[in-house]
Amino acid sequence: STEVTCYSQIGAFWVLMWFSLRQKHVFITGCDSGFGELLARQLDQKGFHVLAACLTEKGAADLAAKASPRLKTLLLNVTDSESIRRAVEVVSKEVGQRGLWGLVNNAGRSVPIGPTDWMQLDDFTAVLDVNLIGVIDVTLQFLPLLKKAQGRVVNVASILGRLSLIGGGYCLSKFGVEAFSDSLRRDMAHFGIKVSIIEPGFFKTAVTRLDLIEADLKRLWTRLPQDIKASYGTGFSMGILCSPDISKVTRCMEHALTAYFPRSRYSGGWDAKLFWIPLSYLPSFVSDFLQCKDIHKVHQN
Ligand SMILES: *[C@@H]1O[C@H](CO)[C@@H](O)[C@H](O)[C@H]1NC(C)=O
Repeated sequence: STEVTCYSQIGAFWVLMWFSLRQKHVFITGCDSGFGELLARQLDQKGFHVLAACLTEKGAADLAAKASPRLKTLLLNVTDSESIRRAVEVVSKEVGQRGLWGLVNNAGRSVPIGPTDWMQLDDFTAVLDVNLIGVIDVTLQFLPLLKKAQGRVVNVASILGRLSLIGGGYCLSKFGVEAFSDSLRRDMAHFGIKVSIIEPGFFKTAVTRLDLIEADLKRLWTRLPQDIKASYGTGFSMGILCSPDISKVTRCMEHALTAYFPRSRYSGGWDAKLFWIPLSYLPSFVSDFLQCKDIHKVHQN
């Protein structure tokens, strides 16, 4: 009969776990593809109430088709404050008095990236508006709901939030996300809100799609004045080694949302853990040296 008691206790534990997850709502931005899409499905399977924000109708429909009826999709453009306000309204109705347990700021874009003198001001602001100002706007508007639940904020930065390896707005935006998240964590600790930063290495997602990046580099190149073109030689090429296993990153996100003691920083992937993050602690001349070799290669191709 001790065995029976033991089983019933284990049973009670899992029922409680299941109930506590069923009370928890998580709002994720950028669920059209990549980390956001996978995390939405992963948390949905675990029993969370997932509120998945997509930029496109197609993204929302594709995700809804793969998820349980509990998962709700909504449309969100993080560069549009009014669109965020409408999302807060929808989420607020869903969560009621419980508040929002988790906010995952995952939406992001990479292009235009490339050498700095290929850029115009608009190329910087296009990326900063989504990756940094978007994160700040979404966070500020959702904070009252998060305070209610003493919830979690999970912000997707990058190893490029520690090392500026490419020109354009991307690294700036990710350095900004790191700084914003650190301030937020310290300011919100008092209210019981925990803030985690995810720093993935290079993974195969829409952000690293070489065809898109190269197509955009071509656009920048054709637009360049002749003298700058001449200073570069004949062209360029890019290569990034990307890991296809993006679940390494969504597992970090899940830990940040579910662990009793979530970490402040998660590095996703072996390249981040063993190479990029250690490199970011070394003096600048080391990363400058490694990177100049890279750029040299770009010039010669
Ligand atoms: C997002 O909102 C901005 C600002 O209102 C607008 O310029 C942009 O076209 C919108 N993007 C999409 C994909 O709807």
